Amino acid sequence: MLLDYRDMKNLLIIEGSVREKRRSIYAAKYIEKLASKDGRYKVKLICPEDYPSPHEGNDPDNKNPGYTKLTEWADAFLLVLPEYNHSFAGSLKMLLDTELSNYLHKPVAFAGVSVGGFGGVRAIESILSAVRQMGMVALSIDIHFSNSYGFFDEQTGEPIDDSKQKEVGQALDELHWMAERLG
Ligand SMILES: Cc1cc2nc3c(=O)[nH]c(=O)nc-3n(C[C@H](O)[C@H](O)[C@H](O)COP(=O)(O)O)c2cc1C
Repeated sequence: MLLDYRDMKNLLIIEGSVREKRRSIYAAKYIEKLASKDGRYKVKLICPEDYPSPHEGNDPDNKNPGYTKLTEWADAFLLVLPEYNHSFAGSLKMLLDTELSNYLHKPVAFAGVSVGGFGGVRAIESILSAVRQMGMVALSIDIHFSNSYGFFDEQTGEPIDDSKQKEVGQALDELHWMAERLG
């Protein structure tokens, strides 16, 4: 299929934790790989430690110009959410809170990651009211990575199989559809 340049969307993937041995980075890199191969996205992957916030809030003195530029560039967001105590990580909230207007009317998808069997579903549920307040439009299709310690190879960081490929593809389809209409 030939794509028009207008079909290309800028996708910002934010891996939502700074824990040193986090498994979510493997999930984020896997999604980055699939989104890059998809052909409809220009993809960038960041995590909160790339853009540390000294203070809370989106005051001008708390903005990180690099993050501001990236959020301006983005047509769509995909947040990878490790589940910590049935919620998402505070480091991600600190980062998200440094911006506001660049989120408005842009779609956001979620990938939950947990060691248990529910694939970070509670981390996803817990972020919905925050992204709604930020003006983003949340997808109804989520990605779930359960059994995070067994599913990603310790040495390579690669998933042990492609069982999540279809789920990621469906979320990318929906995110693109939304970005086309909201853009
Ligand atoms: C502070 C903390 C709290 C956690 N709470 C939960 C939890 O509520 N439910 C769960 O299934 N896993 C929980 N986990 C395990 C993580 O979901 C697991 O490590 C997973 O791989 C995602 O986090 P990671 O990217 O930091 O590895 C917790 C881990 C940490 C470090």
